[in-house]
Amino acid sequence: MNVKIFDTPEVQDFLKAVSGFDQSGGNDRAKQIMHRLLSDLYRLIDDFDITPEEYWSTVSLLNELGAEKQMGLLSPGLGFDHYLDMRMDAADEQARLDGGTPRTIEGPLYVAGAPVAEGEARMDDGSDTDAEVMWLTGQVRDTHGNPIPGAQVEIWHADSKGNYSFFDPTQSDYNLRRTILADDEGRYRVRSIIPSGYGVPPESPTEQVLSALGRHGQRPAHIHYFVSAPGHKHLTTQINLAGDKYTYDDFAFATREELVIEGTRIEDPAEAEKRGLEGPFTEVVFDVELAPTEVSELQDRHKRPRALEQA
Ligand SMILES: [Fe+2]
Repeated sequence: MNVKIFDTPEVQDFLKAVSGFDQSGGNDRAKQIMHRLLSDLYRLIDDFDITPEEYWSTVSLLNELGAEKQMGLLSPGLGFDHYLDMRMDAADEQARLDGGTPRTIEGPLYVAGAPVAEGEARMDDGSDTDAEVMWLTGQVRDTHGNPIPGAQVEIWHADSKGNYSFFDPTQSDYNLRRTILADDEGRYRVRSIIPSGYGVPPESPTEQVLSALGRHGQRPAHIHYFVSAPGHKHLTTQINLAGDKYTYDDFAFATREELVIEGTRIEDPAEAEKRGLEGPFTEVVFDVELAPTEVSELQDRHKRPRALEQA
């Protein structure tokens, strides 16, 4: 077709009408954002000479993404989650609230209400007998190096097949999900299993989008954290286990150099016994530093829809 109509007064007036500029009701911010979004898309249709076939196949793809609840999966794949992190990092730097362990994306697989334990917990239900035992431990400190007793450490991760409890109905409730309150020295200790990485569902609409970009949909083995304590900035982060094929090639862009942790295989029975374990295991140590802040809204995780979390 190769026609250009975007800049005509007719199209510009049409965009204003579609965005509700001539209506007294509605929400001003919503109108402004929709106007900008539609303008960018209309211009794109002109510039790329989008055909009706291309447009309607995209509508169909969006329907599929929604029907399969995959927008939360595509979002990190298209870098939005990491981009929001980059903006929050920049805002922290500007407000001199930087320092401490870096944040990274939350992902869509958190479930609220995991059992709470003091100091120490076992996270796996013992059913994954082929999995490597993981001893995961660390200390929560402030940015001056002082331990933070009672800090709340929420941990969640996948099983050895890359699946998360709740979303995988074959697992027991809250398997591989715990909240640990740090001990008097700010330490937490967890017995669990080494998780596996995972990929977006094969043949899924998310995979379709990534394939069109020549990209894969794989994540390395990783462990999610929320860490918080009164008077400190809430931290959403995750660690990537070193040595995974995708450690530095995560489709969700969550990897940060400071968050890549190498596990240590320990075969000495005395070391296992010290930790109450029966055999060889892999120890993973992740210390966390929280930046101090008096701003109360920074001390909690930001709002977003989460499984089993009250709005
Ligand atoms: Fe994850």
